[in-house]
This record gives sequence, structure tokens and C-alpha cells, in this order.
Amino acid sequence: MSSAPAQPLTTSKAQALKGTIQVPGDKSMSHRALMFGLVSLGETRIEGLLEGDDVLCTARAVEALGAKITHHGPGSWSVIGVGLGALREPETALDMGNSGTAARLLMGLLASHDLTATFVGDESLSSRPMGRVTTPLEQMGAQFQSREGGRLPLTMVGARDALPIRYELPVASAQVKSAVLLAGLNAPGETTVIEPWPTRDHSERMMRAFGAELNIEESEDSKRIITVSGQKELYATDVTVAGDPSSAAFPVVAALITPGSEVHIQNVGMNPTRTGLFEVLKAMGGDIEFINEREVAGEPVADIIARHSQLKGIEVPADIAPRMIDEYPILSMAAANATGTTVMHGVEELRVKETDRIGATARGLEANGVVVHETTDSLSVEGCGQGGVPGGGEVISHFDHRIAMSFAVLGGAAQKPIHIDDGRAIATSFPNFVELMKGLGADLT
Ligand code: S3P
Repeated sequence: MSSAPAQPLTTSKAQALKGTIQVPGDKSMSHRALMFGLVSLGETRIEGLLEGDDVLCTARAVEALGAKITHHGPGSWSVIGVGLGALREPETALDMGNSGTAARLLMGLLASHDLTATFVGDESLSSRPMGRVTTPLEQMGAQFQSREGGRLPLTMVGARDALPIRYELPVASAQVKSAVLLAGLNAPGETTVIEPWPTRDHSERMMRAFGAELNIEESEDSKRIITVSGQKELYATDVTVAGDPSSAAFPVVAALITPGSEVHIQNVGMNPTRTGLFEVLKAMGGDIEFINEREVAGEPVADIIARHSQLKGIEVPADIAPRMIDEYPILSMAAANATGTTVMHGVEELRVKETDRIGATARGLEANGVVVHETTDSLSVEGCGQGGVPGGGEVISHFDHRIAMSFAVLGGAAQKPIHIDDGRAIATSFPNFVELMKGLGADLT
């Protein structure tokens, strides 16, 4: 957690939101572009990199591991890599800040390298479970010393001669899948991950772009079987990072719940493993249009138009959760403005995100007059109808960027202003959120 003083945020009822914006680059792709740049030979040029705190942690770690990184201008970076197997042992602990993706993916990448590294993070990251990655990485020969429950700070001794494994994911997690595949890059032979539920596939797409040998099959029972052939040289390539759909989610929902609004968001990543929220919002009656659909650097991209809509509550089935995992807090804000109840099933993974997002969303909604029900793995929100959220409450964000931004959006459509204790975490993924939302007409201070 940042040592700077807390930055409270207040949002008040907005007039119509109007305008055309671009959201910052995709966080998942940005981490991966830097990491693949590190383990490939030559210069990787990255355009559209997210310059948020989480990704900057990865950039510093990648430098500590031997890459030469140059910042050319906004979003424009280059990485001169050291190649697979040639990572430098970091001289000091790798500070992962607030970022689970940085920590878990780098653990994977380093696990098959003969070096020792210590991972530290902020209070939130130090409370999150790492056992889900250390378990398979131990099977590959790495050793870990951590606090109870595999929590940071953690020291890893990478495997001198890593073993390839075949691993079926026990949780729907792109981070765990990616950690094992990244370790497999420097293990001899074939490392296979079996994925029972499709999660974001940016690692697979980018690995191929950097020249990795990857085979993806579907089993008879519809599981994805992903195999990487290890110890094959990777070569630098150019990466263009699209706008982050998880960031676009905030202005999209803001437009849907604020009367008279029409917001255009250019250049948003439309990878089907990330678009669950937009599908659910459409099923709730959201007026969302995709235009200029195209492919950029191996990823689908489009421009989005979102207009104010009358939303209705729906049942959100568990099987969509991996495709909209980070979007439940902002979906809950749409649900609070819908008529009827929205029930979100199968969301237990939200309990181990930057904070317990089921709890933080539920408490924040209750504080603002919305009735909610939670179980260990579900959240129901009783909609107040358009503009019906009383507001006037105080929200504790627990240093979670998506909780802070979600309630900042809700405040724009509530009857009384909503106060958020601290907006500092927003800088981890969407540094210019407040400025962009104000430019659309939001009343945020
Ligand atoms: C991410 C995967 C997801 C997501 C996170 C980013 C990634 O985490 O919540 O924000 O870049 O691989 P899990 O793998 O824990 O579901």
C-alpha cells in the first residue's frame, strides 16, 4: 500500500455523460509483454503499455532480472531481453506492490531458472494465497519459503533442472495457468496445463507471437489442453496493447446508469475470454454497440458505444465468471440501478482478489441504501430502479482499485453523493480515471 496520505473521493449526481475517450492499455497484456520481452532475444517494442503502478512493478522486476528497458513516450516502451535461461539473479527483493499478476506470473517464469529470488508486496498482496502457484511450481522442482498459507514475503529457489509437468487447474485462474506455462518455457520437454473452464488466453496468444511452440487442443469433455515445448529460443516482437476492457467497464456502466448519456470508447480489447460483462449488461437491457471490429497484434479490438438504458435484474450463471472475473463490483453498480434482483453465482474467487470483493461490494452498497444478500460464493443485489439508489454513504475501498472506481461510478447516479475513503489504488490500473470521467461530465472530487 502506498505510504502517501489517503485520497478520499466524492461523487455526486451527474448530468448526462457525453464524449469520446480511450482507456489505458490492458493490464494483463502489459505485464505479459514486459515478461516475454525479458526472456526473448532482441528488442521488443511495446505500444499502448499501461503505465499503472502494477505494471511498473513488473517493469522494475524485469530490469532487475537483466533486461534493458527504455521509456520512449506515453505508452511506448522497449525491452531488450536476455533470452530464456539467462535471467540475472536479482540483487534485492522483487517488490510486486499490489499486483497478484506480477507476483504469480514472475514466480512461474523464475521457477525454472537456477536463481534465488524474494518476492514482497503491499499489505493486500501479502494476504493473498500463493499456494495455488507454488504447488505446481514445486512439482517442477522449485522450492519456496513463505509465510503460512504460501503468503508473501516469499523466497523462491528456482529449479536448476526443471521438470515438465502435466497439471489440471483446481481453480479457474489465468494466473495459475500462465505461471505453469511460463515455467514450462525453460523446462525440457512438454509442460501441459489442463483448463476445465476457459480463462483469459493472453499468455497463449503472446507466447506464440514470440515464437514459442504451443499446442492447444480441446478434450472430449470440453477442457482446454495447452502444451508448451520448453527450452526453445524466443525472439523479440512488437506488441500493440489494446485498451483494457476491464477499465472500459467503468465508463460503460456509468453511461448505462446516467440519464441522457452516450459515451464512445475507442480501441478496446474484445478478446472473448474478457467480454463476459458486456454480454451480461446487454442481457440486462444495456444499449451497448461494438463498431470498427478489427484485429490488432493477434487480439480482437473494437470501439464501444454505450447509451443510457433501463436495466433489469438477471441471474448471472457461474460459468461466465472466469470471463468477467474482475467486473463483478461494477456489474453490481449496474444491478443496483436495475429493476428486479440480480443474482451473481459462482463468484467465490472474488474473496481472494485485492480484497474480499463480495464483502467490500456488499458493505458499500448497504451503506448507500441498497439491499444485498451474500453467501460464500454468490452475491444478490436488489435493484432500486433507475436513479433509485439513495447514496449518501461512506465506502471503504480496502485499497482495491475496482471497488473505488465502481462506487465512484455509482455516485454519479445516486440521489445523494457517495464518499469513498481512499482512491489511491486507482493508480494501479487506471491512473487517469478521475480526469477521464470528469471530461465526460462526471462530478468527482
Ligand atoms: C489476471 C487474471 C485474473 C484477474 C487478474 C488478472 C491475469 O486473476 O483477476 O486481474 O492477468 O492473468 P486470476 O487468475 O486469479 O483469476
